[in-house]
Amino acid sequence: MKILSVTSEIFPLVKTGGLADVTGSLPKALKPYGVETTSLVPGYPRVMKQLKNALPLMVFEDLLGERASLLHTRIDDLNLFILDAPTLYDRPGGPYVDEHGIDHPDNWRRFGALSLAAAEIAHGALPGWQPDLVHTHDWQSALTSVYMREMGCSTPVVITIHNIAFQGQFPAYLLGPLRLPPRAYSVDCMEYFRDISFLKGGLQTADAITTVSPTYAREILTPRFGMGMDGVLSQRVAVLRGIVNGIDLDIWDPATDPYLPHKYDINCLRRKRQNRAVLMETLGLDPTDGPVFSAVSRLTWQKGMDMLADAADEIIWNGGRLVVFGQGDHHVEDHLLATAARYPGRMAVRIGYDEPMAHLIQGGSDAIIQPSRFEPCGLTQLYALRYGCVPVVSRTGGLSETIIDANDAAMSARVATGFQFHPVNTGGLRLALRRAAHAYADRKNWARLQNQGMKTKFSWERSALQYAAIYANLTRRSAITIGQIRITH
Ligand code: ADP
Ligand code: GLC
Repeated sequence: MKILSVTSEIFPLVKTGGLADVTGSLPKALKPYGVETTSLVPGYPRVMKQLKNALPLMVFEDLLGERASLLHTRIDDLNLFILDAPTLYDRPGGPYVDEHGIDHPDNWRRFGALSLAAAEIAHGALPGWQPDLVHTHDWQSALTSVYMREMGCSTPVVITIHNIAFQGQFPAYLLGPLRLPPRAYSVDCMEYFRDISFLKGGLQTADAITTVSPTYAREILTPRFGMGMDGVLSQRVAVLRGIVNGIDLDIWDPATDPYLPHKYDINCLRRKRQNRAVLMETLGLDPTDGPVFSAVSRLTWQKGMDMLADAADEIIWNGGRLVVFGQGDHHVEDHLLATAARYPGRMAVRIGYDEPMAHLIQGGSDAIIQPSRFEPCGLTQLYALRYGCVPVVSRTGGLSETIIDANDAAMSARVATGFQFHPVNTGGLRLALRRAAHAYADRKNWARLQNQGMKTKFSWERSALQYAAIYANLTRRSAITIGQIRITH
């Protein structure tokens, strides 16, 4: 089965968060099920720089008024279509924002064009290749199914919501420039509080909707988490499914991780202590017998990083150290930096985005903190488990179902893997940090937690099977076979 996956980011070419990890690793996981994925991504400068031997396939003379070429290449296990459109993508900054952190003003055109190109491909514009199904991700590619339906293309579409907070909401007058007819401005399609929403258009026109954990699938049906889309989703609940993300076990493996000065596995956690020493020295932290807590995260309200700044003293006064690494909202960054300035040698905040540093922090920390206000799935806590870091997480979305709280029952059943807190506020976080610090003092118990976490299985296998089953169902094929398992619709 041939799938066209349409995405605004993909690891290792371009990444701002977990979306890239998922779109970069799911194709490999789907392969054993007979699913061949080709991913369409915009030709941002950092993508174009990494291309070698890209083959030109076709030219779109007028993609929302811009000229674009479609290139084909393979990188590692990925089969890629690159949309090379310099007027849309060749500019400084990141995929979504300019070098000052401001949204590109023509994001509607940049991602409208990505979606339109995908729809054209699905409809047969590319000689000799047509997908059996299209898989879109978040608002940036959500218009694909709207365009396809307008063209009369009935190829099935799956849309995955990675984060409903980002909806691609724009003024309604852009419908014309997006080359969509007035009927697309209806409550059953893109109309959204008198604007248009790319995400709503996708949710209304796709055949199946998935999100990245069963808990988040339930949460987004409520006004609090649905962020305006709960009504639409409630109408489409029959086609909504939550499938928890997996992780790429080759990239996130402490036994082979090239970014770790000391490789380790479940049998030699001693070496993790050596990474810890490197991490502390790199960040100028004073030695301690207490735990090193870290956060590697977008520094935003969603991630609860303001709460972490407010609760930092809980760690410091219990003899621990705190490392925060990431970037995001300037006021959250400033709040964290100001807090760190009060605790020299005991709290380190670094603003930036760096893959090797993210790995070193997982390899060298005792605990990872994720106090998210909402979290569709979360990958950082899954990497933490694999790296023997004990996650301290809020009880929401994917965090609530991937981490088992170290309460007495779970400890004696030997299944606990971390600490959960609820309600999600600074007080709740403080209590969880205190529990973790006390647990750390009992080294035997702590080692048990680490062990149980490292044994947890978060490979893609099970989740990829669920995606494959949805694909099989929508394409009405019964041809997917793996080992003894035969998936039929
Ligand atoms: P989200 O996608 O909401 O940001 P996830 O937990 O799903 O959250 O994924 C975050 C991904 O981004 C992980 O791969 C994490 O290691 C990475 N990451 C977050 N902040 C940084 C950073 N400052 N530098 C490098 N990688 C980061
Ligand atoms: C989003 C979510 C995160 C999820 C990731 C990958 O960025 O915020 O929870 O893990 O997408 O699906």
